[in-house]
Amino acid sequence: MCGIVGYTGPREAGPILLDGLRRLEYRGYDSAGIALVTHAGELFVEKRAGKVAVLTDALGGEPPTAGVGLGHTRWATHGRVSDLNAHPHSDCTGRITVVHNGIVENFRALRDELAAGGHVLASETDTEVVAHLVEDAYKGDLADAVRSALHRLEGAYALVVMHQDEPDRLVGARLNVPLIVGVGEGESFFASDASALVAYTKKVIFLADGDVADIRPGTAVVTDIDGMRLERLVDTIPWSAEAAEKGGYEHFMLKEIHEQPTALRSAMAGRVRRGGVCLEEIDPIRDRLANVNRVELIACGTAYYASLVGAQLFQDWLGVPARANVASEFRYSPPPLDARTLVVAVTQSGETADTIAATRLARERGSIVIAVTNTVGSAITREAHAAVFLQAGPEVAVAATKTFVTQVLTLVMLAADIAQQLGRRTKAEEEELVVALKALPEQAERAIELAGATEEMASRYAEAAGFMYIGRAFGYPAALEGALKIKEISYLHAEGYAAGELKHGPISLLDADVPLVAVATRSAVYEKLISNLMEGKARDARVIAVATEGDKQIEQFATDVCWVPDTLEPLSTILAVIPLQLFAYYVAVARGRDVDQPRNLAKSVTVE
Ligand code: F6R
Repeated sequence: MCGIVGYTGPREAGPILLDGLRRLEYRGYDSAGIALVTHAGELFVEKRAGKVAVLTDALGGEPPTAGVGLGHTRWATHGRVSDLNAHPHSDCTGRITVVHNGIVENFRALRDELAAGGHVLASETDTEVVAHLVEDAYKGDLADAVRSALHRLEGAYALVVMHQDEPDRLVGARLNVPLIVGVGEGESFFASDASALVAYTKKVIFLADGDVADIRPGTAVVTDIDGMRLERLVDTIPWSAEAAEKGGYEHFMLKEIHEQPTALRSAMAGRVRRGGVCLEEIDPIRDRLANVNRVELIACGTAYYASLVGAQLFQDWLGVPARANVASEFRYSPPPLDARTLVVAVTQSGETADTIAATRLARERGSIVIAVTNTVGSAITREAHAAVFLQAGPEVAVAATKTFVTQVLTLVMLAADIAQQLGRRTKAEEEELVVALKALPEQAERAIELAGATEEMASRYAEAAGFMYIGRAFGYPAALEGALKIKEISYLHAEGYAAGELKHGPISLLDADVPLVAVATRSAVYEKLISNLMEGKARDARVIAVATEGDKQIEQFATDVCWVPDTLEPLSTILAVIPLQLFAYYVAVARGRDVDQPRNLAKSVTVE
């Protein structure tokens, strides 16, 4: 939700900022802007509604030469999408510029106060108040002025501030919204995430909430909001700049779908052994896990659907009640939470505000918290007692794919590991799981190969009025995720339903224009699924079935079949979703949609 980038150093700042904005664009893309202090000491600002390409065009490809600057790509919260509301925002003197991600909740009161004090606020945004607060506080030292202004803010922020009179310096701060510092040879960076700066440096500082970072070329000083110096570790980003490139694919989403076999392999690396599964990250909390009597999973969107698989497995394998919760609803009616409750927060970005807020509540009530995330150094890792990483590599497309399958896989491994620790599963069951897990990456490759026909299929279904996705048991989360993918990137309406619910209402939607997509892989509920499929066929709906290779009868009931390899039921969600991802992708392409950056969305949702 908004991308921030900042640079100070000997290179040309403009191209670095524009490159960073292009890489961060998936975080928000309704407007973009940059500010530079030129080598001649002048402040240059250009900002435009629209994508980064619009900004680049406006600059004529040649921003002025400068060694310091900041940039922003926006996902609007306060103030409509316009050139004026695009960031950076400036103070009355025009010497101070600010970019911001988050929400200043008390901005109305601050605007009134600033206006009464003679300030002229030009935009409708909450951000602009920050520039004017810094202006009021500025007495020759930007970091002091920013710290002083931060004392006035309520809400959440990652922000970076630049002053024309201190042309080698940027000051950034974070509270509940991500911001990292990149430390290069004689140069320094700010960025919302590592993808913007990994091409220049792999050395980063993950700022913590309340940190204020003061960067100059090659140096970074971190303090708290009162100026107290803090020590922060310099981490190394474990992936290369190429990992965040398209690598010859037309879209990031297609690339990331094809990366799934590798991502699954990487997620299992060092964790799946002959005798069972072991996640060393939870070793420090194993004593507490011995007493768990309930499991609550917390997540949003795709991560929530992955959590549905996790909940089934925690319940089946640990023999304790387990539930997946939509994070944004969790705080309104929280379940009983105590020291024996295990809370698993599942979030690709590790920055989703709803998930973090819900997790915080659980932690306050004494629960044990494990984070399952793809993002090292993210906010959720600080909220949790232990963090288990997906190890999936960077995911750039807004629609999650490889992080869904690795979330499911990681939850399978987590449930298996804890169940094994508690002696709730037999050795034979563990061994069977290990064999199935080891086969999974190759089976995912096969599923991609078998899904080759989805491109042609999509051309026949691209004009459908909508879709109904159904599944039961482990097929249900795959159906929900398949429906979400179609909605997100093709803008077609799609319902995801538990197949048994079809007859309780939604079946009335089915007709020749609304196809039924059924996850009908081999399972204990297969026969029941076939009945649902026939119900659809009887209503003239075209039926797409995701079925297990070798199923001899499914073709009589389906218009089209997407085949996937056979696996254990708890792993079937991972394989079943692959043709659904590809189907959604090709439908969106056939409809001419912006696959990687669908309208109204942003990848990292850092507001509640
Ligand atoms: C869908 C999608 C979203 C995210 C959701 C949670 O393709 O990506 O539904 O799953 O916004 O995001 P994280 O996992 O970062 O908490």
